[in-house]
Amino acid sequence: MRAVDVIINKRNKLELSHEEIDFFVQGFTRGEIPDYQVSAWAMAVLLNGMTARETTDLTLSMAHSGEVLDLSGVVDIAVDKHSTGGVGDKTSLVVLPIVAACGLPVGKMSGRGLGFSGGTLDKLESIPGYRVDLSTDEFKQQLARIGIVLTGQSLDLAPADGKLYSLRDVTGTVQSIPLIASSIMSKKIASGAQAILLDVKTGLGAFMQTLEEARALSALMISIGALAGRKVVTLLSDMNQPLGEAVGNALEVAEAVETLHGRGPADFREHCLVVSAHMLVLGGRAADLAGARKAAQAALDQGQAFEKFRALVAAQGGDVTFVDRPEKLPRAKLVETVGSPRPGCLAQVHARLIGEASVALGAGRARKGDPVDHAVGLVIHRKVGETVAVGDPLFTIHADEAQKLAEARTGVLGAFEWSEAPVAPLPLFYDLA
Ligand code: URA
Repeated sequence: MRAVDVIINKRNKLELSHEEIDFFVQGFTRGEIPDYQVSAWAMAVLLNGMTARETTDLTLSMAHSGEVLDLSGVVDIAVDKHSTGGVGDKTSLVVLPIVAACGLPVGKMSGRGLGFSGGTLDKLESIPGYRVDLSTDEFKQQLARIGIVLTGQSLDLAPADGKLYSLRDVTGTVQSIPLIASSIMSKKIASGAQAILLDVKTGLGAFMQTLEEARALSALMISIGALAGRKVVTLLSDMNQPLGEAVGNALEVAEAVETLHGRGPADFREHCLVVSAHMLVLGGRAADLAGARKAAQAALDQGQAFEKFRALVAAQGGDVTFVDRPEKLPRAKLVETVGSPRPGCLAQVHARLIGEASVALGAGRARKGDPVDHAVGLVIHRKVGETVAVGDPLFTIHADEAQKLAEARTGVLGAFEWSEAPVAPLPLFYDLA
């Protein structure tokens, strides 16, 4: 078999066989198929799609490109969560400590920034010393010892996804339902999760822009989970405007710490409570969502969730003084707050434009392997539906260069739309029972 023939078949809209998919995935995992061929193939998949069967084969092949963890000797039920990616989505930093504090052990492999959306690993690396490359043994030992792990795709867990993910980020091949579904589900299967909560984002700042696409992605991941013997529950959540206020690595860690202290932006706190409640029910730690939510709220308000986060950072080599005093986190040289140029009710706070402005400031990557600047980013002070007067603070830019700050000012102002008539606030979730 030749890699070029697999690419040509997908370019010609053929359904790839199980053997072709496995050959391609194992080939690029071993470094035998070069990045340029993988990129061409990913573009062919993006343009021509994959059937549910191909996507399941791709998922299982990527999951088995390395070790598949068996956590049965470590936890009674391995529950995991994943978000399809958005702007200001720092949910894992708060939800994992909440559920772990409520007695549900959770070990998660997260990703880096992808396109305009941030990545949990990049955020955590704002904390000096924090390791995102735990070995399988370290993963298991830490999960058994403190009930919480937040690490990256190591060489031995779903390495195919790690390689493909970093190529997709810089080749315009993120927005593909089969590539997103297989990326997420391969990681979840490899990390040994028996029950998985998926937060499928939809809107202007999500990879799935419409509810219809989000529902399709959600159904595909549920069916892959069923075929792989894993229980999958999905939530559909809004990503038209950023979640919370902070967008950018260290800024998001600081906001997560605020939220773990029982404060933080109301929308972000509420989002975390809903996700945590679903995980606690999925993991059998609460009989119903109302009881689960109460427990989650208590863990936030009484400090146990913050203590879990602190224990996580310490266990993974991070300097906890940065968690105790988030003002120590990397700070940008230039900070400027921009006021509203006109009065009105906010009709749009465009999440993707804000995500792109944050990447342009240096918080994300332009090329594979580029370093990110942990200090830079944006704080968005207003939500859709709020009324502002001229000069009211709309957003704050954290930049390292005057030129980038000026570009961000223009770019982020372009994310706002005003209306003279009242505008309804956006919901946090769709289809929530
Ligand atoms: N999150 C992932 O892990 N993979 C994707 O492709 C998109 C979001």
